[in-house]
Amino acid sequence: MRVLSVASECAPLVKTGGLADVVGALPAALAPEGVGMRVLLPGYPAVTGALAEARQVAVEDDLFGGAGRLLAGRVAGLDLLVIDAPHLFARPGNPYLGADGHDWPDNPERFAALCWMAARIGAEGVEGWRPQIIHAHDWQAGFVTEYLRRMPGAQDVRTVLTIHNIAFTGATDPGRLHGLRLDPSRFHSEGYEFWGGISALKAGLVGADRLTTVSPRYAEELMTPEFGMGLDGVMRARREVLSGILNGIDETVWNPAGDAAIRPYRTARGKPANKAALRAELDLSEDADGPLCVIVSRMTHQKGLDLVLEALPALLEAGGQLAVLGSGEPGLERAFLDLAAQVPGVAVRIGYDEGLSHRMIAGGDAILVPSRFEPCGLTQLYGLRYGTVPLVALTGGLADTVIDASPAALARQVATGVQFSPVTAGALRNALTRLCALYRQPKAWSRLQANAMAQPVGWDQSARAYAALYADLTAA
Ligand code: ADP
Ligand code: GLC
Repeated sequence: MRVLSVASECAPLVKTGGLADVVGALPAALAPEGVGMRVLLPGYPAVTGALAEARQVAVEDDLFGGAGRLLAGRVAGLDLLVIDAPHLFARPGNPYLGADGHDWPDNPERFAALCWMAARIGAEGVEGWRPQIIHAHDWQAGFVTEYLRRMPGAQDVRTVLTIHNIAFTGATDPGRLHGLRLDPSRFHSEGYEFWGGISALKAGLVGADRLTTVSPRYAEELMTPEFGMGLDGVMRARREVLSGILNGIDETVWNPAGDAAIRPYRTARGKPANKAALRAELDLSEDADGPLCVIVSRMTHQKGLDLVLEALPALLEAGGQLAVLGSGEPGLERAFLDLAAQVPGVAVRIGYDEGLSHRMIAGGDAILVPSRFEPCGLTQLYGLRYGTVPLVALTGGLADTVIDASPAALARQVATGVQFSPVTAGALRNALTRLCALYRQPKAWSRLQANAMAQPVGWDQSARAYAALYADLTAA
């Protein structure tokens, strides 16, 4: 099976969030299922710089305002196709934002170029390889289906769109329609029109043969006004082709027994050494006798970190500590830095730091993920793998991957963490109190850790689900 995966980020080359982890992990996860997946990426400096011995496999004279070429090469085990178009992608730093922290004004065209090249590969192939399926991720790959329609030779290519986060719709104003090479006759409510504007995500949602999202629960939630962000009607209309396939984690990167960033361990008995090292690194007291809770997160409204600021006394009063690693909205960064300056039991590091994220997840007793919505979430899965008990909001993939320590689950010895609902500061406070009480019962706590570490969080099952979806689609 030949599949072209199309995305705006891919670990380990360029990453702002879990999308990159998933796009980077899928090819290796799917190879044992007989899927040959190539990944098409924009040629940001971090990507072209990593491409040694690239082959030029196509040229495009007019790629939205300048010439571009398509390069092919292997990096980090990935079979990459890269769009070398300096006028669009030769910009340092974050893939979406300029130095001023705002979106690049030409983002619609930049990612339209990604979709255009994907459709061309679908129509013509490269080096004799033509995909049977184009698997698009998020709004940046939303126009693939629009462009495929107008390319002769691409009619047999099937399409899958995965929604990693419906909050980003790739919206732009209708004045850009021609510049984006869109068919004006499809600017209507059954097409890519959304609230009078253009939405790249909507184009994909109405056009793709199959839609997936990254957990079964989020698939259901997307069809509701609360979570659908105005697209819930579209999702309901496409219910028949929508499914939820849970993300896995890359178990070569996230494996406590073989993790070079930490003091490796096979059972939770190896955690105290990591906790001591983390406390020393973050200047947190050795004396606190409650759980050390960690957070590794983008700092945005989605992630509910403001609730942690409100609910924190419940943790501190029970002798707990908090360590936070993240970056994002300046107001949240400032609030956490102020908190750390005032409260001895709190340590905050602003920035992006892979190594520290591993040390925090290994050294923490619990990991907090209080998101208002969470399509899947990866850090609670890392927590499970590392015996770091997840305390999560009852939403999306968090609800699907953690089993709450209710009396019944504790009695049946199946609990893996703590969940709270509704997603409010009050409910989070109660959950923290519950977590601290569990922590004081060594037998129950050890059981939670052992159950967490035993839960499968790799790609096996989900890789089979994607392979089955592709097979079904090409057989149809
Ligand atoms: P999202 O994609 O919504 O940000 P996920 O939980 O799916 O949420 O993925 C986030 C990914 O980014 C995880 O791999 C997490 O470890 C990583 N991450 C987030 N913030 C940081 C940070 N400040 N430093 C290091 N890694 C981070
Ligand atoms: C998005 C979601 C996150 C998910 C990730 C990978 O960034 O916010 O929940 O885990 O995509 O699918």
